[in-house]
Amino acid sequence: MDVHVAGARPQDVPTAGRVLADALRDDAVMRAMLPGDTDRPARLSRIYAAVARMTLASGGVVDLARDGAAGPVVGVAVWEPPDLALGRWAQLREVPTLVAAVGVRHLPAALRGLRAFAAQRPRYPHWFLAYVAAAPAARGHGVGSALLAHRLAAVDGTGMPVYLEATTGASSRLYERFGFRPTGTIELGGATATTMVRPPA
Ligand SMILES: CC(C)(COP(=O)(O)OP(=O)(O)OC[C@H]1O[C@@H](n2cnc3c(N)ncnc32)[C@H](O)[C@@H]1OP(=O)(O)O)[C@@H](O)C(=O)NCCC(=O)NCCS
Repeated sequence: MDVHVAGARPQDVPTAGRVLADALRDDAVMRAMLPGDTDRPARLSRIYAAVARMTLASGGVVDLARDGAAGPVVGVAVWEPPDLALGRWAQLREVPTLVAAVGVRHLPAALRGLRAFAAQRPRYPHWFLAYVAAAPAARGHGVGSALLAHRLAAVDGTGMPVYLEATTGASSRLYERFGFRPTGTIELGGATATTMVRPPA
């Protein structure tokens, strides 16, 4: 695979949402936070598109990996820089979309998850890898590695640590290869995420 990574533009947001939704549909931690099988692919696409839109609108980074310079999107990474200021308007604008897509009866689970994750975020300035995902058909071909290498090269110049939550053992191994080390765990509805920090390079 000829993987090319570049920043997403606003018009790429629906594609980013769809690729994240496809990749994370069956992730156990995501399922604990976002349960429900009814219309699941479309609901998740709307949720992740809203996340990507909020991130871009607030000065965060959404990277896309394509197979070929102008080829199809095969992977997405969503990064929050240390100075991300999630604008109140950017968030408020997405509330109706998010509530409808999460589903009113699943809101308590989603809020419980958000609180559990927020409680473990480092209190010191850091970059946060909120999501990284490769399309199911593209896995194991270097997409995730290319997304990580691309942004970490830029982060290395800033002397900042990087934080993430790994939701599978296989993804933890990948992150360890890039210098992340486990720092703790988060239990959520029977699923476990591992918190990891990469010290400043
Ligand atoms: C995790 C993920 C982003 C890695 O991207 P990728 O393009 O498949 O990874 P690469 O080809 O660059 O690197 C391969 C390594 O990724 C890790 N990996 C994690 N999940 C994997 C999967 N489902 N398939 C293949 N490799 C996976 C393995 O450590 C693998 O190394 P190995 O061959 O020595 O076991 C991608 O597999 C994915 O989207 N998985 C499903 C969603 C997910 O788990 N996201 C991470 C949540 S924290």
